[in-house]
Amino acid sequence: MIPQQTIDSAISELFDNLEVPAEPSGLYDPFGYMVAIGGKRLRPRLCLTVYGLFRDSLDASILMPASGLEIFHTFTLIHDDIMDRSPLRRGKETVWKKWKEDTAILSGDVMCIDSYRRMAMAPSGVLPQVLSLFTATAAQVCEGQQYDMDFEQEREVPMADYMKMIGLKTGVLIACSAKTGALIGGASERDCDKIYDYGYNLGLAFQVEDDWLDAYGDEKVFGKPIGGDIVNNKKSWLTIRAFEKASPLQREKLLEAMEMPVDTEGARAAKISAVRDIYDELGVGADARAEIVRLTDLALSSAAVVCSGEKLEILRSFAQKLVGRNK
Ligand code: IPE
Ligand code: IPE
Ligand code: MG
Ligand code: MG
Ligand code: MG
Repeated sequence: MIPQQTIDSAISELFDNLEVPAEPSGLYDPFGYMVAIGGKRLRPRLCLTVYGLFRDSLDASILMPASGLEIFHTFTLIHDDIMDRSPLRRGKETVWKKWKEDTAILSGDVMCIDSYRRMAMAPSGVLPQVLSLFTATAAQVCEGQQYDMDFEQEREVPMADYMKMIGLKTGVLIACSAKTGALIGGASERDCDKIYDYGYNLGLAFQVEDDWLDAYGDEKVFGKPIGGDIVNNKKSWLTIRAFEKASPLQREKLLEAMEMPVDTEGARAAKISAVRDIYDELGVGADARAEIVRLTDLALSSAAVVCSGEKLEILRSFAQKLVGRNK
């Protein structure tokens, strides 16, 4: 096993010393900027944590792919912020705001390419599995992002469709991160699959929590603008649950609130508070918290097939930290 402290220092060292080319600066500066402003680095941490259940020490064959998962994730954030018109990420200006959209597109592209270079450094024995998992995952993330945008235009979306969408945009990359750790760690096929399920359900819980924080978080801690999902008419877990619970009158009120204008700062604030009032009236915030617990338990039931005792405790504590977060 690898102590959590060793994993933490390996992560810091990896990203503090990440080499990003200097020229052309218009292409690479945003790459360096996004790495420097940090983030939780949950995906490489999960990858290394799972790897540490099967091995006793770290080397480049796991550290490079683990960093690839984070660079890929960061690329998706740069493009996601263009798509969601979001001005703030990790408490700082987003790339498209700080530079411009063209820069955000191209810097994102080069990060995606760099992530493949890193994944390709997996040990040759498992390289085909690692690369085919990663490639399938990357395409699924795009599919999820497309559904997410399509849903903005729809009035109501069934909960099952929402769960499928977040499984694609968020669940699969967290699942892939966990499974990459298992594959390179030398786990059996069955263990790899169960670890994937652990990551997938953890990813669903993580996205429901992200939706909750988007409405109820503290912007200074969360690092993203509160109410962005409401402004964009995103079909978040809260919206969908609200439609499920609403009386015909509350449903009308919610639809009306969702049609409120968002062209000025004041108009946006009014819309956010109108929608949040309906959420509060219906108690969907508390329902979301319960759903997060249900999904986390589901994740842990898969983990329990793979390991027990101290090792299971590591996966439990990883999950608990993730869903108890405020950023
Ligand atoms: C944000 O991911 C996008 C979602 C999947 C919700 P994170 O919350 O992991 O973002 P960082 O990397 O910590 O900034
Ligand atoms: C992000 O979903 C999923 C991906 C980036 C693939 P969100 O749009 O909810 O993420 P945030 O809230 O902007 O981080
Ligand atoms: Mg988005
Ligand atoms: Mg977004
Ligand atoms: Mg979000």
